[in-house]
Amino acid sequence: MQLGTPKTVSSPPALNTAHASTATTPGTMSSTTPVTAAAALNMRAKLLPPTLAGVSEAAARLREGKLLAFPTETVYGLGANALMESSVLEIFKVKGRPLTDPLIIHVPTAAAALECLSFPNPVDPSCPSEGRAMFDRLSEVFWPGALTIVALAKPHIPLKVSAGTGFVGLRCPSHPLALRVLEAAGVPVAAPSANRFGHVSPTRASHVLNDLGDSDIAIMNGEDKREIFAVPACEFGIESTVVKINESGRELIVLRRGAITKTQLEEAVAKKSGKMRGAKEEAVFEAIRNWTVTIVNTHDEMKRAETKELDSNSSRKRRKVDPAAAQDPPASAAAGHVAPGQLLTHYAPDGMECYLVRPSGLNLDADSLDDVNTNQRLDCVTALQTGAVVIDFAGELAKKGLDEDHPSGLVLDYKDLSPRGDPKEAAKNLFAYLRWSEKYQGRVGRVLLADIATICRTSDFVGGVADRMFRSASGKVILLTD
Ligand code: TXA
Ligand code: MG
Repeated sequence: MQLGTPKTVSSPPALNTAHASTATTPGTMSSTTPVTAAAALNMRAKLLPPTLAGVSEAAARLREGKLLAFPTETVYGLGANALMESSVLEIFKVKGRPLTDPLIIHVPTAAAALECLSFPNPVDPSCPSEGRAMFDRLSEVFWPGALTIVALAKPHIPLKVSAGTGFVGLRCPSHPLALRVLEAAGVPVAAPSANRFGHVSPTRASHVLNDLGDSDIAIMNGEDKREIFAVPACEFGIESTVVKINESGRELIVLRRGAITKTQLEEAVAKKSGKMRGAKEEAVFEAIRNWTVTIVNTHDEMKRAETKELDSNSSRKRRKVDPAAAQDPPASAAAGHVAPGQLLTHYAPDGMECYLVRPSGLNLDADSLDDVNTNQRLDCVTALQTGAVVIDFAGELAKKGLDEDHPSGLVLDYKDLSPRGDPKEAAKNLFAYLRWSEKYQGRVGRVLLADIATICRTSDFVGGVADRMFRSASGKVILLTD
C-alpha cells in the first residue's frame, strides 16, 4: 500500500503574520505566533486551549480515533490512539511519512508502558529478565522525561506502529499538559513529531499549524496565555534520546541522540539498585550494571549510506525525502538494530540550503578536518555566496565578521542560538531559528550554521544538538579560512 500523498513543500511567505485566532476555534494564539497565509486560508485544524476543558476534549478526540497535536518537553507530537490501526495510518498520511518509519508510543506511567512491551524470560519465568530489569532501571531514572525505550512489542500493538519490526518505542513525557492528556485519554498514544515529514521539528503550536493546519487535527496550544499548566512547552527543544534494549548483546543501543546523554545513560546503567529484592532478582539487577551503551547511526554511517544511494542513482543530487515512495513495512522485518527513521537529510528548512560552518583557529582535530574536502575551505565572502543568513553559536561566526556588519552586505540576517555559549539554550532555539530562516527563501538560499560540535567540545549534551544541525545541513560542511 502506498500512503502519504506528498504534501508539496508550500513556501510559507514568511513575513506574513495572519493569526490563527482568526481562523480557528476555540483557542486563541498569542500575537507571537505567526501563521502563514496559505495555512490560514485552508485551515481545518482546531486549536484547543491548555485548560481542563481543553484536556478533556483532547482526550475524547484520542479515544475516538482522531488526531491531536500536543506539546511535550521536547517537541510537539502528532498523536493518535496507538491501538486503532486506522488512526495510526492517518498519522502517516497527514505527515506524508513513509510506513517504514516507526512511531513512538506515549504513556503516562511505566506501568502503562509495560502493557505494550514484552520481556520474556524463557530460562526462568519466575524471575525478571535482564531486559525487564533494564527497563525498570531506565524508567525509574529518566521517566517522566525525554527518553524513548525500544523493546519487543506485545502482540496487540499494531505492526504499523513498529513499522513491521515487532519492536516498539515507549516514552513517558514530563510536560504536565502532555501527561494530563495521556492520563485522561486512557489509551496509549502513538506520536511522531508534528511536522511535515523531513521538515524541521515543531517547538511551537504555530509551527504545527504551518505544516499541518490544512488537516483535520486538533492542536493543544502550549503557548496559550491562559495556560493553567504553567510550564513552558518544548523546554529541551530537540527530540528524546531513543535507546533499544538489546538483551542478547547485553547493551543499550542509542538509536537517536537527544536530550539524555550517553554519560547519563552510563551512570544509570552502573547505578546500584536501592530497592530490597529477593536474591534471584538482586542478581539480575546486579548483572545489568555490566551492560554497555553503544551509539549507532553515527554521521559517518549515515554519510556512507547516503553515498551508496547517490552512487546507485547519480541523477539525484541529494537524498530527497519522498513520501510518495512510502512502502508498506515488511510483515516480519528482521529485528536489526536500526532506527529506520534516521535519514541523513532531515530538519531541512524549506527552500534554504544549510551549511555547517567551522571557524578556523579552533584547533580542529583530525576528524573535524577529515570530512571537509578542499572545495569547502572557503573565505567568508565565498561562503556567503550571493547572500546568506547566519545562525551563530557563542558569537563564533560574528568573530570572523559573519554578522550584519559584514562589509559585503551579504549577511542578510543574523541570530545567535546562545550568545553565552550554552548548548541547552542552543537546543531550545535551534528548530525555531531554522524555521525563522525560511522567511528568506526566494531572496537568499543559504543558511550558515555555526557547527556547535567543533565550537563546544566539553559538553556531552552537544551530541544531540550537533546531530540535528548536521542533518539539517545534510552533512555539508564549510571550513572558514582566514
Ligand atoms: O521527543 C520525541 O521523541 C518526539 C516527541 C513527540 O515525543 N517524538 C519524535 O518522534 O521525535 P519521531 O517519530 O519524529 O521520531 C522517532 C524516531 C523514528 O524516526 C525512529 O528513527 C526512532 O525514533 N524509532 C522510533 N521507534 C522505533 C523502533 N521501534 N525501532 C527503531 N527506531 C525507532
Ligand atoms: Mg520527527
